[in-house]
Amino acid sequence: MKRIIIEGNQILSGTINISGAKNSAVALIPAAILCDEEITINNVPNISDIDALQEILTYLGAIVKRDNNSITIDSSKIENKEVPEAISKKLRASYYFMSSLLGKYNFVEMYFPGGCSIGARPIDQTLKGYRMLGANVLEEGNKFTISADELVGSTIDLAMPSVGATVNSILVAVKAKGTTVINNAAREPEISNLVDLLNKMGAKISGAGTSSITIEGVDYLHSAQIEVIPDRIEAGTYVIAGALVGDNLKVNNVIPNHFQSLIDKLIEMGANIIVNEDDIIISKIENGNSINVKTLGFPGFATDLQQPLTTLLTKLNGKSILEETIYENRFQNVPYLNKMGANIEIKDRTIIVSGPTKLIGTTVEATDLRAGACLVLAGLAAEGITTVNKVEYVLRGYENIIEKLSSVGAKIKIEEYNEVA
Ligand code: EPU
Repeated sequence: MKRIIIEGNQILSGTINISGAKNSAVALIPAAILCDEEITINNVPNISDIDALQEILTYLGAIVKRDNNSITIDSSKIENKEVPEAISKKLRASYYFMSSLLGKYNFVEMYFPGGCSIGARPIDQTLKGYRMLGANVLEEGNKFTISADELVGSTIDLAMPSVGATVNSILVAVKAKGTTVINNAAREPEISNLVDLLNKMGAKISGAGTSSITIEGVDYLHSAQIEVIPDRIEAGTYVIAGALVGDNLKVNNVIPNHFQSLIDKLIEMGANIIVNEDDIIISKIENGNSINVKTLGFPGFATDLQQPLTTLLTKLNGKSILEETIYENRFQNVPYLNKMGANIEIKDRTIIVSGPTKLIGTTVEATDLRAGACLVLAGLAAEGITTVNKVEYVLRGYENIIEKLSSVGAKIKIEEYNEVA
C-alpha cells in the first residue's frame, strides 16, 4: 500500500499546472468505442482511473496507444464481450462502456460499477434511460443483461440531474433511431466536453450545459480528436491549498468559471485572490470569515470540493456550516480532521466547523479520493508530520500530486508500506 508523508506548515509559492479533468476523460474514453475509426484524446491525466479504463479497452480488443497525455483508440476490432466484475468494480465510469456497447451493438452484459464509497450511488436513472429507448434490462445480482431489437429515441425525464445518467443516456441515444430529449440533465462542464467529442464524430447533439439535451440519432460516427478540459476539482483543491499556506501561489491552466462557486466562497471569506483569464493567484487567508456552504449540481458548489474545503473552514473565525446534499456518506474525513485538532460536529448531512483551530500532524487515512485530498491539505497546513495512509484513492484522481506540490515548496513524499493487521 502507499502513504503520503508531509512535513507541514511550509509556504507554497510558484506555479502549479492543472491537468485534464478526470471526470471528462473517463467519459470520453468509453465514447470513443462508439465508432470504428481512430479517436485521439489529448490532455488525458495520468491517473489510475485512466489505467483501469485502458484495461477495459484492451480487454475488449481495442488498439490503444498512450503517449504522455494523449491516448489514441482504434475500436475497429473490438468484441462485445462481458467485462469481468473485478475490472468493472475498479471505478464508477466502467458503466459508461455498458452504454457505449449497448448503443453500438443493441446488446451488453456488464456488472455494477465501482467508485468511491461515499453513498449508495444507485444506477436506476441510467436503467430508466435504457428502458425509455426500448431496451430490456435483466438484473441478476450485480449483473445486467441489456438488449434491444432496436433503440428508438424518446424523452427521458431524469429524477435528479445525475451526471452518470446524463452521460449514459447520451451514449445510448447517439446512434438510436430518431430524437431523444433528456430533461433535468446534469449541466456539468464534463458533459459539454463529451458532447463536443461526439459532435466532432458526427453526432447531432444540442443543449449541453443546459437542463435539456436533444440528441438526433445518427447511423455513422467517424474519427475525431478532442482536448480534455482542465480539471476544475484538481484546480479547486490547489486553490484551497493556496488559501491555507500559499504566498502568491499560481494555479495555472484553469477555466475559472468552472469553479466560480468556490471562488465566490473564497471572496466571502475575505481571501486574497486574483482571478485571471486562465489562472488564479492566491495567498494564505488571515482572519477569514466563517461561511455557509451547500453542495449542489453545477453551477452550484461541487460536492467533490466540499471535503477539501473543510480543511480551510477549520482556519476561519467562528462557525461555518456545510451541508452535503448529493451524497449521504461524504464526511469520512471529519474524524481524521478532528484527530488533527479540528473542532467539527456532524449532524446528519451537515457539519459545523468551529474555528480557528490549529492542526497538528498525526497518522490519518484516506477513505475515498476527496477525503484523501482533504487530509493532504490538512497535512500541508499542520504543524509537524502528517502521514496519510491508503493514498491509492488520491492517485485515482490527482496526476503527479507529489511532484506538483514539491515544486511549489511542500515537503511531501510518497512511499510503500505494509499494513499492520
Ligand atoms: N443518483 C441516483 N440514481 C441514479 C443516479 C444518481 O439516485 O441513477 C443519485 C446519487 O446517488 C447521488 C446523486 O444522484 O446522490 C448524484 O449522482 P451522479 O449520478 O450525478 O454522480 P455520478 O455520476 O455517480 C459523478 C462524478 C463524481 C461526482 C458526481 C457529482 C464521475 C465518474 N463521477 O458521479 O465524482 O461527485 O458526479 O458531481 O464523473 C469524484 O470525482 O470524486 C466523484 C465522486
